[in-house]
Amino acid sequence: MNKILVWDWPVRIGHWLLVGAFALAWLTGESETFRLVHAFAGGTLVGVILFRLLWGVLGSRHARFASFVRGPGAVKDYLVGLLTRAEAHSAGHNAAGGWAIVALLVFGLLSGATGWLVYQDIGGDWLGEIHEAMASGMLAVVFLHVAGVAVSSLAHRENLVRAMLTGLKQGRPDEAIASARPLAVILLLGWVAACAWWLAR
Ligand code: HEM
Repeated sequence: MNKILVWDWPVRIGHWLLVGAFALAWLTGESETFRLVHAFAGGTLVGVILFRLLWGVLGSRHARFASFVRGPGAVKDYLVGLLTRAEAHSAGHNAAGGWAIVALLVFGLLSGATGWLVYQDIGGDWLGEIHEAMASGMLAVVFLHVAGVAVSSLAHRENLVRAMLTGLKQGRPDEAIASARPLAVILLLGWVAACAWWLAR
């Protein structure tokens, strides 16, 4: 197997923006002083996720949902393979990790939508409670996701965090993507800035 390009630029920039936005939103969630920063981080998170949903259809091969959202059989096979050390290597996301990604996107959207309503003074304390529950749910999946990345990196002797930075993973030449789609990053950043401004105003 060779080093091949699997993650395009929007996937990588979007991923690390999401990490930063979630961390900032989590750290400022309880503070009155940083309420605007919290809303801005939440708006950034929602902007990245909305873009990612579109990119899951229009993006490069391994970014598309159709390539990594797999049925329960594939998830079971991957997990059993991990236990028996016979797991299949995937150039893109593995079958179990794919569902963690879906859960992160759903929890992120629900956190963002409930947070925006609370920010607009719509709904009472109960909506604030739901907002906190969604953010906690997301944090729980983040822990699972990071643990999954660590286990998978060890199992395949491949640094997946570095791959999310460089875009390069082990794979067959025919599994590589043809372009890293750098220009789409301009769209991503413009869209995210607009969402963050609009949702936090
Ligand atoms: C707020 C925290 C996080 C969120 C919301 C998050 C979300 C995501 C999402 C949505 C993806 C899919 C990427 C895509 O296809 O667009 C992903 C993949 C990935 N994330 Fe995270 N992530 C978080 C934290 C982290 C951290 C802290 C690390 C590193 C320690 C990490 C490492 C990775 C890696 C390596 C992948 C690729 C997994 C693979 O090879 O299949 N993530 N993450």
